[in-house]
Amino acid sequence: MFYERELERWFVTRHADVRSCLRDRRLGRNFRHVGTEEEFDAAEPLDPRWQAFWDTERWSLLWVEPPEHTRIRKLVAAAFTPRSVDELREPCADLAHELLPGERFELLRDFAQPYSIAVICRLLGVTTDRSRDLLDWSHAMVKMYELDTTAAQAETATAAAAEFRDYVVSLIAERRRGPCDDLVTRLAEARVDGERLSDAQIVSTIIVLLNAGHEATVNTLGNGILALLRHREQWERLLAGEVGPAAAIEELIRWDPPLQLFERWVLEDGVEIAGQPVPRGAKVALLFGAANRDPRAFENPDVFDVGRRNAAEHIGFGGGIHVCIGAPLARIELAAALRALVERLPDLDLAEEPRRNRAYVIWGLDKVEVCSSNGITTPTRSSTGPATSSSSARPSTT
Ligand code: HEM
Repeated sequence: MFYERELERWFVTRHADVRSCLRDRRLGRNFRHVGTEEEFDAAEPLDPRWQAFWDTERWSLLWVEPPEHTRIRKLVAAAFTPRSVDELREPCADLAHELLPGERFELLRDFAQPYSIAVICRLLGVTTDRSRDLLDWSHAMVKMYELDTTAAQAETATAAAAEFRDYVVSLIAERRRGPCDDLVTRLAEARVDGERLSDAQIVSTIIVLLNAGHEATVNTLGNGILALLRHREQWERLLAGEVGPAAAIEELIRWDPPLQLFERWVLEDGVEIAGQPVPRGAKVALLFGAANRDPRAFENPDVFDVGRRNAAEHIGFGGGIHVCIGAPLARIELAAALRALVERLPDLDLAEEPRRNRAYVIWGLDKVEVCSSNGITTPTRSSTGPATSSSSARPSTT
Protein backbone atom coordinates (compact mmCIF):
# COMPACT_ATOMS: atom_id res chain seq x y z
CA MET A 1 0.00 0.00 0.00
CA PHE A 2 1.34 3.47 -0.87
CA TYR A 3 0.16 7.06 -1.26
CA GLU A 4 0.51 8.80 -4.63
CA ARG A 5 0.68 12.56 -4.15
CA GLU A 6 -0.12 13.63 -7.68
CA LEU A 7 -3.17 11.40 -7.93
CA GLU A 8 -4.11 12.10 -4.27
CA ARG A 9 -4.93 8.48 -3.61
CA TRP A 10 -3.85 5.53 -1.53
CA PHE A 11 -3.08 2.47 -3.66
CA VAL A 12 -3.76 -0.98 -2.20
CA THR A 13 -1.89 -3.86 -3.81
CA ARG A 14 -2.10 -7.04 -1.72
CA HIS A 15 -4.82 -9.63 -2.28
CA ALA A 16 -5.88 -9.83 1.39
CA ASP A 17 -5.95 -6.03 1.76
CA VAL A 18 -7.93 -5.46 -1.47
CA ARG A 19 -10.40 -8.14 -0.42
CA SER A 20 -10.88 -6.69 3.04
CA CYS A 21 -11.35 -3.16 1.61
CA LEU A 22 -14.05 -4.50 -0.74
CA ARG A 23 -15.88 -5.96 2.25
CA ASP A 24 -15.41 -3.01 4.59
CA ARG A 25 -18.67 -1.10 4.95
CA ARG A 26 -16.75 1.97 6.19
CA LEU A 27 -15.50 2.34 2.61
CA GLY A 28 -17.93 3.26 -0.16
CA ARG A 29 -18.04 3.80 -3.90
CA ASN A 30 -19.79 7.11 -3.19
CA PHE A 31 -19.69 9.54 -0.24
CA ARG A 32 -22.55 11.87 -1.07
CA HIS A 33 -24.94 10.08 1.32
CA VAL A 34 -22.68 10.87 4.30
CA GLY A 35 -20.82 14.10 3.51
CA THR A 36 -20.19 17.05 1.23
CA GLU A 37 -17.69 17.51 -1.60
CA GLU A 38 -15.71 19.95 0.60
CA GLU A 39 -15.23 17.27 3.27
CA PHE A 40 -13.99 14.74 0.74
CA ASP A 41 -10.65 16.23 -0.36
CA ALA A 42 -10.05 14.50 -3.68
CA ALA A 43 -13.66 14.92 -4.83
CA GLU A 44 -14.34 17.03 -7.87
CA PRO A 45 -17.79 18.60 -8.04
CA LEU A 46 -20.01 16.97 -10.67
CA ASP A 47 -19.64 19.21 -13.71
CA PRO A 48 -23.15 20.49 -14.62
CA ARG A 49 -22.21 20.38 -18.33
CA TRP A 50 -22.40 16.58 -18.10
CA GLN A 51 -25.73 16.50 -16.26
CA ALA A 52 -27.38 14.00 -18.62
CA PHE A 53 -24.54 11.60 -17.87
CA TRP A 54 -24.82 12.08 -14.08
CA ASP A 55 -28.60 11.56 -14.33
CA THR A 56 -28.11 8.11 -15.83
CA GLU A 57 -25.53 7.32 -13.12
CA ARG A 58 -27.82 8.49 -10.31
CA TRP A 59 -29.45 5.09 -9.72
CA SER A 60 -26.66 2.89 -11.04
CA LEU A 61 -25.73 0.08 -8.65
CA LEU A 62 -22.16 1.31 -8.97
CA TRP A 63 -23.11 4.81 -7.79
CA VAL A 64 -25.42 4.14 -4.86
CA GLU A 65 -24.59 2.97 -1.35
CA PRO A 66 -26.83 1.45 1.35
CA PRO A 67 -29.67 1.81 2.05
CA GLU A 68 -30.43 2.74 -1.61
CA HIS A 69 -28.03 0.10 -2.92
CA THR A 70 -29.58 -2.67 -0.81
CA ARG A 71 -33.07 -1.82 -2.05
CA ILE A 72 -32.15 -1.53 -5.74
CA ARG A 73 -29.86 -4.57 -5.77
CA LYS A 74 -32.67 -6.73 -4.29
CA LEU A 75 -35.06 -5.57 -7.01
CA VAL A 76 -32.51 -6.09 -9.79
CA ALA A 77 -31.65 -9.55 -8.40
CA ALA A 78 -35.38 -10.42 -8.44
CA ALA A 79 -35.38 -9.74 -12.20
CA PHE A 80 -31.87 -10.94 -13.13
CA THR A 81 -32.41 -14.40 -11.63
CA PRO A 82 -30.11 -17.45 -11.81
CA ARG A 83 -32.78 -19.13 -13.95
CA SER A 84 -32.86 -16.27 -16.48
CA VAL A 85 -29.06 -16.41 -16.68
CA ASP A 86 -29.02 -20.17 -17.07
CA GLU A 87 -31.49 -19.85 -19.94
CA LEU A 88 -28.78 -17.92 -21.81
CA ARG A 89 -26.41 -20.92 -21.79
CA GLU A 90 -27.67 -22.35 -25.10
CA PRO A 91 -28.05 -18.98 -26.85
CA CYS A 92 -24.46 -18.10 -25.82
CA ALA A 93 -23.13 -21.34 -27.32
CA ASP A 94 -25.14 -20.79 -30.51
CA LEU A 95 -24.15 -17.12 -30.85
CA ALA A 96 -20.47 -17.88 -30.29
CA HIS A 97 -20.54 -20.37 -33.16
CA GLU A 98 -22.68 -18.21 -35.44
CA LEU A 99 -20.59 -15.08 -34.99
CA LEU A 100 -17.12 -16.64 -35.15
CA PRO A 101 -15.36 -15.56 -38.34
CA GLY A 102 -12.68 -17.70 -40.00
CA GLU A 103 -9.22 -17.30 -41.52
CA ARG A 104 -8.05 -13.78 -40.67
CA PHE A 105 -10.00 -11.42 -38.44
CA GLU A 106 -9.71 -8.83 -35.68
CA LEU A 107 -10.77 -10.64 -32.53
CA LEU A 108 -12.33 -7.68 -30.70
CA ARG A 109 -14.14 -5.90 -33.54
CA ASP A 110 -15.14 -8.99 -35.53
CA PHE A 111 -15.99 -11.41 -32.74
CA ALA A 112 -15.84 -10.34 -29.07
CA GLN A 113 -17.82 -7.10 -29.48
CA PRO A 114 -20.67 -8.36 -31.68
CA TYR A 115 -20.88 -11.50 -29.56
CA SER A 116 -21.04 -9.69 -26.23
CA ILE A 117 -23.60 -7.19 -27.56
CA ALA A 118 -25.71 -10.00 -29.02
CA VAL A 119 -25.78 -11.70 -25.60
CA ILE A 120 -26.87 -8.45 -23.93
CA CYS A 121 -29.56 -7.99 -26.61
CA ARG A 122 -30.85 -11.50 -25.81
CA LEU A 123 -30.88 -10.67 -22.12
CA LEU A 124 -32.78 -7.42 -22.70
CA GLY A 125 -35.06 -9.00 -25.28
CA VAL A 126 -34.17 -6.53 -28.05
CA THR A 127 -33.26 -7.27 -31.63
CA THR A 128 -29.64 -6.79 -32.68
CA ASP A 129 -30.53 -3.97 -35.12
CA ARG A 130 -29.65 -1.46 -32.36
CA SER A 131 -26.39 -3.21 -31.46
CA ARG A 132 -24.22 -0.60 -33.25
CA ASP A 133 -25.82 2.14 -31.13
CA LEU A 134 -25.44 0.13 -27.92
CA LEU A 135 -21.78 -0.43 -28.73
CA ASP A 136 -21.13 3.25 -29.50
CA TRP A 137 -22.96 4.44 -26.38
CA SER A 138 -21.11 2.01 -24.17
CA HIS A 139 -17.68 2.94 -25.61
CA ALA A 140 -18.37 6.64 -25.18
CA MET A 141 -19.78 6.41 -21.65
CA VAL A 142 -17.07 4.24 -20.09
CA LYS A 143 -14.46 6.91 -20.89
CA MET A 144 -15.91 8.76 -17.87
CA TYR A 145 -14.43 6.09 -15.56
CA GLU A 146 -10.81 6.69 -16.60
CA LEU A 147 -8.42 8.78 -14.48
CA ASP A 148 -7.87 11.45 -17.17
CA THR A 149 -11.14 12.03 -19.06
CA THR A 150 -10.95 15.02 -21.43
CA ALA A 151 -13.77 17.57 -21.90
CA ALA A 152 -14.34 16.28 -25.44
CA GLN A 153 -14.73 12.70 -24.15
CA ALA A 154 -17.10 13.90 -21.42
CA GLU A 155 -19.19 15.73 -23.99
CA THR A 156 -19.45 12.64 -26.19
CA ALA A 157 -20.26 10.49 -23.14
CA THR A 158 -23.04 12.90 -22.15
CA ALA A 159 -24.60 12.87 -25.61
CA ALA A 160 -24.41 9.05 -25.59
CA ALA A 161 -26.05 8.92 -22.14
CA ALA A 162 -28.97 11.07 -23.35
CA GLU A 163 -29.55 8.88 -26.42
CA PHE A 164 -29.23 5.68 -24.40
CA ARG A 165 -31.73 7.03 -21.82
CA ASP A 166 -34.29 7.90 -24.53
CA TYR A 167 -33.90 4.45 -26.05
CA VAL A 168 -34.45 2.66 -22.71
CA VAL A 169 -37.43 4.90 -21.84
CA SER A 170 -39.11 3.89 -25.11
CA LEU A 171 -38.26 0.24 -24.44
CA ILE A 172 -39.86 0.38 -20.97
CA ALA A 173 -43.01 1.96 -22.46
CA GLU A 174 -43.17 -0.78 -25.10
CA ARG A 175 -42.82 -3.53 -22.48
CA ARG A 176 -45.50 -1.96 -20.29
CA ARG A 177 -47.86 -2.10 -23.28
CA GLY A 178 -46.84 -5.66 -24.24
CA PRO A 179 -44.85 -7.63 -21.62
CA CYS A 180 -42.29 -10.20 -22.88
CA ASP A 181 -40.12 -12.85 -21.28
CA ASP A 182 -37.11 -10.55 -20.95
CA LEU A 183 -35.14 -8.52 -18.44
CA VAL A 184 -36.73 -5.15 -19.25
CA THR A 185 -40.19 -6.59 -18.53
CA ARG A 186 -38.95 -8.31 -15.37
CA LEU A 187 -37.33 -5.09 -14.12
CA ALA A 188 -40.56 -3.19 -14.81
CA GLU A 189 -42.60 -5.83 -12.96
CA ALA A 190 -40.19 -6.55 -10.07
CA ARG A 191 -41.70 -6.12 -6.57
CA VAL A 192 -39.80 -6.69 -3.32
CA ASP A 193 -41.27 -5.81 0.10
CA GLY A 194 -43.96 -3.78 -1.66
CA GLU A 195 -41.34 -1.66 -3.49
CA ARG A 196 -40.65 -1.34 -7.22
CA LEU A 197 -38.14 0.33 -9.50
CA SER A 198 -38.94 3.74 -10.96
CA ASP A 199 -38.36 4.31 -14.68
CA ALA A 200 -35.22 6.34 -13.89
CA GLN A 201 -33.91 3.43 -11.84
CA ILE A 202 -34.61 0.96 -14.65
CA VAL A 203 -32.77 3.26 -17.07
CA SER A 204 -29.70 3.39 -14.80
CA THR A 205 -29.85 -0.37 -14.30
CA ILE A 206 -30.00 -1.25 -17.99
CA ILE A 207 -27.17 1.18 -18.74
CA VAL A 208 -24.93 -0.18 -15.98
CA LEU A 209 -25.64 -3.77 -17.02
CA LEU A 210 -24.50 -3.01 -20.54
CA ASN A 211 -21.58 -0.76 -19.69
CA ALA A 212 -20.24 -2.82 -16.77
CA GLY A 213 -20.75 -6.08 -18.59
CA HIS A 214 -19.80 -5.41 -22.16
CA GLU A 215 -16.34 -3.84 -21.95
CA ALA A 216 -15.14 -6.25 -19.26
CA THR A 217 -16.24 -9.30 -21.24
CA VAL A 218 -14.71 -8.07 -24.50
CA ASN A 219 -11.40 -7.20 -22.85
CA THR A 220 -11.26 -10.51 -21.00
CA LEU A 221 -11.48 -12.23 -24.38
CA GLY A 222 -8.84 -9.93 -25.92
CA ASN A 223 -6.38 -10.16 -23.03
CA GLY A 224 -7.10 -13.83 -22.45
CA ILE A 225 -6.78 -15.05 -26.03
CA LEU A 226 -3.55 -13.07 -26.36
CA ALA A 227 -2.23 -14.83 -23.24
CA LEU A 228 -3.23 -18.23 -24.64
CA LEU A 229 -1.61 -17.59 -28.01
CA ARG A 230 1.58 -16.38 -26.35
CA HIS A 231 1.65 -19.45 -24.13
CA ARG A 232 0.96 -22.01 -26.78
CA GLU A 233 1.40 -24.93 -24.39
CA GLN A 234 -1.63 -23.63 -22.43
CA TRP A 235 -3.75 -23.37 -25.60
CA GLU A 236 -2.70 -26.97 -26.35
CA ARG A 237 -4.04 -28.08 -22.95
CA LEU A 238 -7.43 -26.68 -23.96
CA LEU A 239 -7.26 -28.34 -27.37
CA ALA A 240 -6.42 -31.67 -25.76
CA GLY A 241 -9.39 -31.32 -23.39
CA GLU A 242 -7.05 -31.52 -20.37
CA VAL A 243 -8.55 -28.27 -19.03
CA GLY A 244 -12.09 -27.15 -19.85
CA PRO A 245 -13.01 -23.60 -20.92
CA ALA A 246 -15.01 -22.93 -17.72
CA ALA A 247 -11.91 -23.56 -15.57
CA ALA A 248 -9.54 -21.77 -17.94
CA ILE A 249 -11.44 -18.47 -17.97
CA GLU A 250 -10.74 -18.03 -14.24
CA GLU A 251 -7.01 -17.99 -14.97
CA LEU A 252 -7.59 -15.63 -17.91
CA ILE A 253 -9.24 -13.17 -15.53
CA ARG A 254 -6.63 -13.68 -12.80
CA TRP A 255 -3.61 -13.32 -15.05
CA ASP A 256 -4.64 -10.24 -17.03
CA PRO A 257 -7.88 -8.77 -15.63
CA PRO A 258 -9.89 -6.39 -17.83
CA LEU A 259 -10.60 -4.07 -14.90
CA GLN A 260 -7.43 -2.97 -13.15
CA LEU A 261 -8.65 -0.58 -10.56
CA PHE A 262 -11.73 0.20 -8.49
CA GLU A 263 -11.94 3.03 -6.03
CA ARG A 264 -13.46 3.60 -2.64
CA TRP A 265 -13.94 6.62 -0.37
CA VAL A 266 -13.16 6.36 3.32
CA LEU A 267 -16.51 7.27 4.90
CA GLU A 268 -15.62 7.16 8.61
CA ASP A 269 -12.84 8.06 11.03
CA GLY A 270 -10.64 5.35 12.50
CA VAL A 271 -10.08 3.26 9.36
CA GLU A 272 -6.77 1.38 9.01
CA ILE A 273 -5.71 -0.39 5.83
CA ALA A 274 -2.75 -2.77 5.99
CA GLY A 275 -1.94 -1.29 9.42
CA GLN A 276 -1.90 2.26 8.04
CA PRO A 277 -4.42 4.82 9.35
CA VAL A 278 -6.34 6.36 6.44
CA PRO A 279 -8.45 9.44 7.27
CA ARG A 280 -12.11 10.00 6.51
CA GLY A 281 -12.46 11.70 3.13
CA ALA A 282 -9.43 9.93 1.58
CA LYS A 283 -9.65 8.10 -1.72
CA VAL A 284 -8.40 4.53 -1.99
CA ALA A 285 -7.59 2.77 -5.28
CA LEU A 286 -7.74 -1.03 -5.18
CA LEU A 287 -5.34 -2.56 -7.70
CA PHE A 288 -7.00 -5.77 -8.88
CA GLY A 289 -4.20 -6.66 -11.29
CA ALA A 290 -1.60 -6.48 -8.52
CA ALA A 291 -3.80 -8.42 -6.07
CA ASN A 292 -4.24 -11.19 -8.64
CA ARG A 293 -0.46 -11.58 -8.84
CA ASP A 294 0.13 -11.58 -5.07
CA PRO A 295 2.44 -14.50 -4.19
CA ARG A 296 0.75 -14.72 -0.78
CA ALA A 297 -2.46 -15.76 -2.56
CA PHE A 298 -1.21 -17.57 -5.68
CA GLU A 299 1.81 -19.84 -6.02
CA ASN A 300 4.17 -18.65 -8.79
CA PRO A 301 1.71 -15.86 -9.61
CA ASP A 302 3.45 -14.75 -12.81
CA VAL A 303 3.10 -18.20 -14.34
CA PHE A 304 0.09 -18.44 -16.64
CA ASP A 305 -1.46 -21.83 -15.86
CA VAL A 306 -4.98 -22.53 -17.17
CA GLY A 307 -5.28 -25.49 -14.81
CA ARG A 308 -4.35 -23.47 -11.71
CA ARG A 309 -6.14 -25.01 -8.72
CA ASN A 310 -7.22 -21.80 -6.99
CA ALA A 311 -7.48 -19.43 -9.98
CA ALA A 312 -11.13 -18.67 -9.13
CA GLU A 313 -9.95 -16.94 -5.95
CA HIS A 314 -8.99 -13.99 -8.16
CA ILE A 315 -10.43 -10.58 -7.30
CA GLY A 316 -11.64 -9.99 -10.87
CA PHE A 317 -15.34 -9.85 -9.98
CA GLY A 318 -14.81 -7.75 -6.85
CA GLY A 319 -16.36 -8.62 -3.47
CA GLY A 320 -18.63 -7.26 -0.74
CA ILE A 321 -21.92 -5.53 -1.52
CA HIS A 322 -20.88 -4.39 -5.02
CA VAL A 323 -19.65 -7.82 -6.11
CA CYS A 324 -20.33 -8.30 -9.81
CA ILE A 325 -24.01 -9.17 -10.28
CA GLY A 326 -23.22 -10.30 -13.84
CA ALA A 327 -20.47 -12.79 -12.89
CA PRO A 328 -22.60 -15.92 -13.52
CA LEU A 329 -23.52 -14.61 -16.98
CA ALA A 330 -19.94 -13.51 -17.71
CA ARG A 331 -18.69 -17.01 -16.84
CA ILE A 332 -21.20 -18.69 -19.16
CA GLU A 333 -20.53 -16.18 -21.94
CA LEU A 334 -16.73 -16.38 -21.74
CA ALA A 335 -16.65 -20.18 -21.52
CA ALA A 336 -18.94 -20.48 -24.57
CA ALA A 337 -16.71 -18.11 -26.59
CA LEU A 338 -13.54 -19.92 -25.60
CA ARG A 339 -15.09 -23.30 -26.38
CA ALA A 340 -16.11 -22.12 -29.86
CA LEU A 341 -12.60 -20.77 -30.56
CA VAL A 342 -10.93 -23.97 -29.40
CA GLU A 343 -13.28 -26.25 -31.29
CA ARG A 344 -13.48 -24.30 -34.51
CA LEU A 345 -10.06 -22.65 -34.86
CA PRO A 346 -7.51 -24.97 -33.24
CA ASP A 347 -4.60 -23.43 -35.17
CA LEU A 348 -5.54 -19.86 -34.24
CA ASP A 349 -2.48 -17.60 -34.12
CA LEU A 350 -1.55 -13.94 -33.89
CA ALA A 351 -1.33 -12.26 -37.29
CA GLU A 352 0.18 -9.06 -35.90
CA GLU A 353 1.63 -7.88 -32.63
CA PRO A 354 -1.34 -6.41 -30.69
CA ARG A 355 -1.20 -2.93 -29.19
CA ARG A 356 -2.39 -2.03 -25.70
CA ASN A 357 -5.15 0.58 -25.64
CA ARG A 358 -4.37 3.80 -23.81
CA ALA A 359 -6.90 3.22 -21.05
CA TYR A 360 -5.82 2.03 -17.64
CA VAL A 361 -8.93 1.27 -15.58
CA ILE A 362 -10.57 -0.67 -18.42
CA TRP A 363 -7.48 -2.55 -19.47
CA GLY A 364 -7.42 -4.01 -22.93
CA LEU A 365 -6.01 -4.00 -26.42
CA ASP A 366 -6.71 -1.82 -29.43
CA LYS A 367 -6.66 -4.65 -31.90
CA VAL A 368 -5.94 -8.35 -31.83
CA GLU A 369 -5.41 -9.48 -35.43
CA VAL A 370 -5.57 -13.26 -35.57
CA CYS A 371 -5.51 -15.88 -38.29
CA SER A 372 -6.29 -19.51 -38.79
CA SER A 373 -5.31 -21.50 -41.84
CA ASN A 374 -8.24 -23.85 -41.23
CA GLY A 375 -10.89 -21.18 -41.47
CA ILE A 376 -14.10 -22.59 -40.10
CA THR A 377 -14.38 -26.07 -41.39
CA THR A 378 -15.70 -28.26 -38.64
CA PRO A 379 -18.80 -27.01 -36.83
CA THR A 380 -18.53 -29.57 -34.00
CA ARG A 381 -20.40 -28.08 -31.06
CA SER A 382 -20.18 -31.19 -28.92
CA SER A 383 -16.54 -32.29 -29.04
CA THR A 384 -13.18 -30.69 -28.48
CA GLY A 385 -11.00 -30.81 -31.57
CA PRO A 386 -7.64 -32.58 -31.78
CA ALA A 387 -4.41 -30.81 -30.87
CA THR A 388 -3.37 -29.76 -34.33
CA SER A 389 -1.47 -26.55 -33.75
CA SER A 390 2.25 -26.02 -33.31
CA SER A 391 3.59 -26.52 -29.79
CA SER A 392 6.14 -23.72 -29.69
CA ALA A 393 6.00 -21.84 -26.40
CA ARG A 394 5.78 -18.06 -26.86
CA PRO A 395 7.44 -15.56 -24.57
CA SER A 396 5.14 -14.11 -21.92
CA THR A 397 5.67 -10.41 -22.46
CA THR A 398 2.25 -8.98 -21.54
C1 HEM B 1 -15.37 -10.69 -17.26
C2 HEM B 1 -16.43 -9.94 -17.12
C3 HEM B 1 -16.69 -9.06 -15.92
C4 HEM B 1 -15.84 -8.60 -14.96
C5 HEM B 1 -14.34 -8.86 -14.82
C6 HEM B 1 -16.63 -7.80 -14.04
C7 HEM B 1 -16.14 -7.18 -12.92
C8 HEM B 1 -16.88 -6.47 -12.00
C9 HEM B 1 -16.39 -5.91 -10.77
C10 HEM B 1 -14.95 -5.98 -10.30
C11 HEM B 1 -17.41 -5.30 -10.13
C12 HEM B 1 -17.37 -4.60 -8.77
C13 HEM B 1 -16.93 -3.17 -8.83
C14 HEM B 1 -16.64 -2.59 -7.45
O1 HEM B 1 -16.61 -3.29 -6.45
O2 HEM B 1 -16.41 -1.36 -7.35
C15 HEM B 1 -18.58 -5.45 -10.97
C16 HEM B 1 -19.81 -4.96 -10.68
C17 HEM B 1 -20.87 -5.06 -11.55
N1 HEM B 1 -20.95 -5.80 -12.70
FE1 HEM B 1 -19.47 -6.89 -13.53
N2 HEM B 1 -17.92 -7.79 -14.47
C18 HEM B 1 -18.00 -8.55 -15.62
C19 HEM B 1 -19.14 -8.83 -16.33
C20 HEM B 1 -20.38 -8.33 -16.07
C21 HEM B 1 -21.58 -8.61 -16.82
C22 HEM B 1 -21.66 -9.58 -18.02
C23 HEM B 1 -22.57 -7.84 -16.28
C24 HEM B 1 -24.01 -7.74 -16.65
C25 HEM B 1 -24.61 -8.24 -17.68
C26 HEM B 1 -21.99 -7.09 -15.19
C27 HEM B 1 -22.68 -6.19 -14.40
C28 HEM B 1 -22.18 -5.61 -13.25
C29 HEM B 1 -22.96 -4.71 -12.40
C30 HEM B 1 -24.37 -4.25 -12.65
C31 HEM B 1 -22.13 -4.37 -11.34
C32 HEM B 1 -22.50 -3.47 -10.15
C33 HEM B 1 -22.95 -4.29 -8.98
C34 HEM B 1 -23.20 -3.46 -7.73
O3 HEM B 1 -22.63 -2.39 -7.58
O4 HEM B 1 -23.98 -3.92 -6.89
N3 HEM B 1 -20.67 -7.42 -15.08
N4 HEM B 1 -18.23 -6.19 -12.11
